[in-house]
Amino acid sequence: MSQTQRHEAKRQQVQPTAQEVETFRELFQRLTSLHFGQWRFESLQRALAARVSARGLDSVQQYIRLLEHSAASSEELSEILNLLTVNETYFFRYPAQFDLLRQSLFPTLISQQRGTDKRIRVWSAGCSTGEEPYSIAMAALDAFGPGASLLVEIVATDVSSDALRRARQAEYGPKSLRLLDDASRAKYLRRISQDRFTVAGPVRAMVQFRQASLLDDVQRVSVPWDIIFCRNVLIYFTREATDKVQDNLARSLSPGGYLLVGHSEIIRPDLFIPFGDPDSFVYRRADAGRQPSEQRGHCHVSDRRPQTETDAKPASTLSSLGRSPAQADDCQQMFEAALDYFDRKQYVRACQKAEQLLQHFPRHLPACLLRANAYLHQGEHERCARECQFVLQLDPFNAEAYLLLGINFKSLSKVSLAIEYLKKAAYLLPDSFSVQFHLGEAYRARGLHSEARRAYRNAVAFLAAAEDREIRNYCGAFSRSTLEAFCQRWLGN
Ligand SMILES: C[S@@+](CC[C@H](N)C(=O)[O-])C[C@H]1O[C@@H](n2cnc3c(N)ncnc32)[C@H](O)[C@@H]1O
Repeated sequence: MSQTQRHEAKRQQVQPTAQEVETFRELFQRLTSLHFGQWRFESLQRALAARVSARGLDSVQQYIRLLEHSAASSEELSEILNLLTVNETYFFRYPAQFDLLRQSLFPTLISQQRGTDKRIRVWSAGCSTGEEPYSIAMAALDAFGPGASLLVEIVATDVSSDALRRARQAEYGPKSLRLLDDASRAKYLRRISQDRFTVAGPVRAMVQFRQASLLDDVQRVSVPWDIIFCRNVLIYFTREATDKVQDNLARSLSPGGYLLVGHSEIIRPDLFIPFGDPDSFVYRRADAGRQPSEQRGHCHVSDRRPQTETDAKPASTLSSLGRSPAQADDCQQMFEAALDYFDRKQYVRACQKAEQLLQHFPRHLPACLLRANAYLHQGEHERCARECQFVLQLDPFNAEAYLLLGINFKSLSKVSLAIEYLKKAAYLLPDSFSVQFHLGEAYRARGLHSEARRAYRNAVAFLAAAEDREIRNYCGAFSRSTLEAFCQRWLGN
């Protein structure tokens, strides 16, 4: 039997069990800080089977030991990252950010650097297969003409060696090029076959690619940067890793610099503040312009109410709406009274009780969320949105606030916005029925049928574990069986 035949035989034998996939998921998360919800079970299972077979091993246990202990583990980890990182990207993704780059960020930075020999330094962090940094180079050529390379320096990094190999190869098909107009195609690409193009020399020459992990000490990628693109990367990290990477990004950004992120990323308000139109997802360092002694550790919260000692801690799970962590008994009693009105669908009364409580305990987030939900039930969408935004200023990782914003904007038929908020909620609560159910609804409303099916499938899988209160609070008057039947209908079952 040849080696290839032996590998093929093993590949057919190895079918990792659910327990083995779970062990692998935990180990992989520990080693890379990338988190995988239950919905990626099949990808994990496939990757695990493929690597056991590629290594010519007899069992998954052997492979886990290799990954955990052997000297070969970092090389093996790199292979696994090549299989499991999500590399979805395309040229000029979020076009508004590139318009801003050409029309505002580049001209502002260039005028600040006039008279120095400094170039504008741009970092594409998590560049995947290269579409993003090449788009930045094209935008620089649009803004400055052929001399752009003298004014702008672009470094692009990714942890995946496969993605970087394809980035350096710079050959792309229709999926990557879907937003590129004819004029840009003619200017910046060369056709190599019927529907494949390569990036023209002057664009390629502006971008340097390097392999680096965002979790490593950023000093290894020289700092500071005037512009950092870190889009659709943070969403794959664990909460702790997202925090650490954002610390690194803040340290790497020059005080007057700009951070551009993806639409589903949750950005720490103590480190970054939005720049310009909030929908452009551009940020600046929160401490820019402040004295060094004031820098860091400050939360930029525009507090509408005075602060008291008894402010409650942020709520973090969907069932927390029923559990107040406040210390004072009267606070607890007021909250329970508000909750009771809410449960009896007396939303005006629920709002009044919540308001009474908030006058005494201004940062009682469960009360804020209860009131936001009561507003939502009364069709007071703007008030609901305002209340949720207030919660997010205090606790940018509050999943319920994102969920409520998602439902709120879905009711207003602002479906794209709803999807963005619901994706953030899904990041924070990967196994929540309500989040997946509303995501399914929003995707369906946008005509994104395969995404809708995936969300409904997840919703069905998570329904049994969902608490009654969660269903009551976020899925209206529907019973579990009605909700399940609804999802199954859209799944075509
Ligand atoms: C979905 S792509 C985003 C591409 C591009 N930024 C965009 O928005 O179109 C995410 C990329 O992040 C990379 N990535 C994941 N973990 C990373 C890490 N620790 N350091 C650097 N890049 C990482 C993945 O390899 C992948 O190429």
